[in-house]
Amino acid sequence: MSKSSDGNPFPIVVLISGSGSNLQSIIDHRQDFEPGIDICTVISNNPEAYGLQRASQVGVSTTVINHQDYPNRSRYDAALMTEIDRHQPMLVVLAGFMRILTTEFVNHYSGRLINIHPSLLPLYPGLNTHQRAIESADKEAGATVHFVKPEVDAGPIIIQARVPVYGTDSRQQLAARVLAQEHLIYPRAIQWFAQGRLSVRNDKVLLDGNESSKQMVISDEI
Ligand code: GAR
Repeated sequence: MSKSSDGNPFPIVVLISGSGSNLQSIIDHRQDFEPGIDICTVISNNPEAYGLQRASQVGVSTTVINHQDYPNRSRYDAALMTEIDRHQPMLVVLAGFMRILTTEFVNHYSGRLINIHPSLLPLYPGLNTHQRAIESADKEAGATVHFVKPEVDAGPIIIQARVPVYGTDSRQQLAARVLAQEHLIYPRAIQWFAQGRLSVRNDKVLLDGNESSKQMVISDEI
């Protein structure tokens, strides 16, 4: 994976649809490592997304590309690509961007498109992950950062965080426990990418050329 070779902040574009708490954690950690992160713009398909305010509050530019203004998925994704490419990011970060992407879009950003998903993939792609974990009486749940492939919530895994599921958990309680871990692992994955430390071999992500125990974070609560 490429890295910023000039010592300048590493340019990324972040796509959101909602609250943007993962965006906030990227904002909060963007100067914590070398190279720092330059969030070129935040793009939302949802004009009401609270994450747009989070970006504006720290002077990051925002763009709304509302899917309702487009006749189909392919035209929407083409508009999205035009806007993203204008900023020439080295990494495109899906942070709660709740849209199914076309194969054209995914292939266009192959190797530089990452997503965070609130489950221990390959378990529970799609929606309602926490409810599904509770209904399955799982003892553990978690979150996954992965490179994006055309299939929904699939692709080589960069890092996962694991948390316990308690018998008394509501969906909201489990979601909050997982989300707290998401906020730790997403900036770390972006840092690794920006530092050129990630590679993919046989659909597996290597960190510094190795399969690494650092790619699984276990919450202190376990
Ligand atoms: C996060 O839990 C993220 O993992 C999930 O949406 C939430 C966005 O929260 N993403 C997916 O489900 C993708 N399939 P946020 O807007 O507060 O970052």
